[in-house]
Amino acid sequence: MRMILIGPPGAGKGTQAARLVDQLRIPHISSGDMLRAAVKEGTALGVEADGYMKAGKLVPDEVVIGMILERIARPDAAGGFMLDGFPRTIPQAEALSAAMTRAGYTLDRVVLIEVPDELIVERGVGRRNDPVTGRIYHLTFDPPPPEVAARLVHRKDDTEEAIQQRLVKYHGETAPIVPLYEAQGVLRRVDGVGTPDEVTARLTAALAS
Ligand code: AP5
Repeated sequence: MRMILIGPPGAGKGTQAARLVDQLRIPHISSGDMLRAAVKEGTALGVEADGYMKAGKLVPDEVVIGMILERIARPDAAGGFMLDGFPRTIPQAEALSAAMTRAGYTLDRVVLIEVPDELIVERGVGRRNDPVTGRIYHLTFDPPPPEVAARLVHRKDDTEEAIQQRLVKYHGETAPIVPLYEAQGVLRRVDGVGTPDEVTARLTAALAS
């Protein structure tokens, strides 16, 4: 299975990917996680990406495209992958499509997780990430157990101001890629409102359809 998860910031892409990749036995490739790891390690890529990310802006296409095409060419992705957060612009979608054609791969599914803007800020502001396990929590909707609470981190781009900026970028630059995948017949829309279990059930059905 070669698939993409698309959705606004905080739609639940990371939460749902973590639930699905084990059963699908494919790597979860999150451009946001890769960029955050580069920032933490202080690589040249991380230094360049940091300012864009903190401000809720998109990292330039040429930086992200190279990073993802190199990642999907690794042996563990030969049998399939789940992309999360990439592509996010039309040039990124075109670069992915060209690379897949060159490799002789086809895209099986693109799942759009739909969540209205008015729910997005609350999801981001309340998010907490566990740096040890990678688990994503929410202070209200998915509270962390007390024993991990002290080590949780709040992402620098999960301020209300940065989330609003990320929403603007989503509607302006990422939403326009949806019709491309709709035209290819691979797009499935999933309602992202409800409990994480309800959303997982809808996603599983969408992947099978
Ligand atoms: P990235 O990390 O990709 O962020 P994003 O797309 O904004 O998505 P999020 O990680 O914020 O949310 P999510 O949909 O994974 O939601 P989650 O499951 O955590 O990108 C960050 C930045 O990196 C970008 O702004 C950009 O600067 C840069 N970047 C990355 N990729 C790029 C690219 N391709 N091109 C250029 N720049 C790029 O859930 C959110 C919260 O909601 C959690 O607290 C969770 O517990 C809770 N939640 C989840 N599901 C539910 C539910 N059903 N009900 C209630 N709460 C829920």
